[in-house]
Amino acid sequence: MESLQLKGVRACVFDAYGTLFDVNSAAARESDALGDTWQPLADLWRSKQLQYTWLRSLAGSHVDFWQVTGDALDFSMASLKLDDPALRRRLMDLYLHLSTYPEVSDTAARLKAGGMKLAVLSNGSPAMLAAAVQSAGIDTLMDAVISVEEVGIFKPHPSVYQLAVDRLRFKPKEICFVSSNGWDAFSAKAFGLRVVWCNRFAQVAERIPALPDGEIPDLASLPDILGA
Ligand code: LAC
Repeated sequence: MESLQLKGVRACVFDAYGTLFDVNSAAARESDALGDTWQPLADLWRSKQLQYTWLRSLAGSHVDFWQVTGDALDFSMASLKLDDPALRRRLMDLYLHLSTYPEVSDTAARLKAGGMKLAVLSNGSPAMLAAAVQSAGIDTLMDAVISVEEVGIFKPHPSVYQLAVDRLRFKPKEICFVSSNGWDAFSAKAFGLRVVWCNRFAQVAERIPALPDGEIPDLASLPDILGA
C-alpha cells in the first residue's frame, strides 16, 4: 500500500472524545461497582450522548456537552436499572479525567517539534476540555482548544468546522482534522478540511459525504503523514 502523504498542512486539529481521550475509561474505572455492566453502560452512555447532540442541534434546543453527557448518563443508568446517585457523581467526575490513548502525548510533541500548529476542536464545553487536556498533560502543546460553545451548536454543523479556520487563520486545505468518529471525519471532509480518520475501532466507512483523505489505526503515523 502506498504510504499516505498530505502536503502543505500547517495545523493539525484533533477531535477530543474517542480520538485523544478514551470515553470508555470512566465506566471502566468503576468496574468494581458495575461488574460486567461497565461496558454496556459505557456503550449506551456514549451512543446516547451523541444522539442527544444531534437531536438538540436539529431541534434548535442547545445545551452544553456537560448537560448532554449527564442526561445521557441518566438515561443509560435508568435503562440498566442502576439507581445510585453517588456512582453517577463519580462517573461524571471521571469524565473530566478520562484516560488519554497511549500514543497521544508523544505524537503531539513530535508534531509540535516539527513546526505544526496544534488544536482541539470538540463538542466538549470549555471547562470539560480544559480539565481533559490538563489532566492529559497536553495543554502546553496546544495552540488552541476550541469548543462548539463558541457557536452554540454541535458537530457536524459546518459552523463548528469553520471555527478551526477562523481561530487558526489558515486555509481549510492547510488544516488537517483528525477524528476517530467516522461521522465527524466524513463531515469535516465535506466541509472542506483535509481529514485523516483515526479509525481506532476498525469501523466500516460511513455512507455520508465525504470520504476522508486517509485512514490510520492510531495517531502514531501522523508526523510522517504530515511531514512534521
Ligand atoms: C467531540 C466528540 C465528537 O469531542 O467526540 O467533539
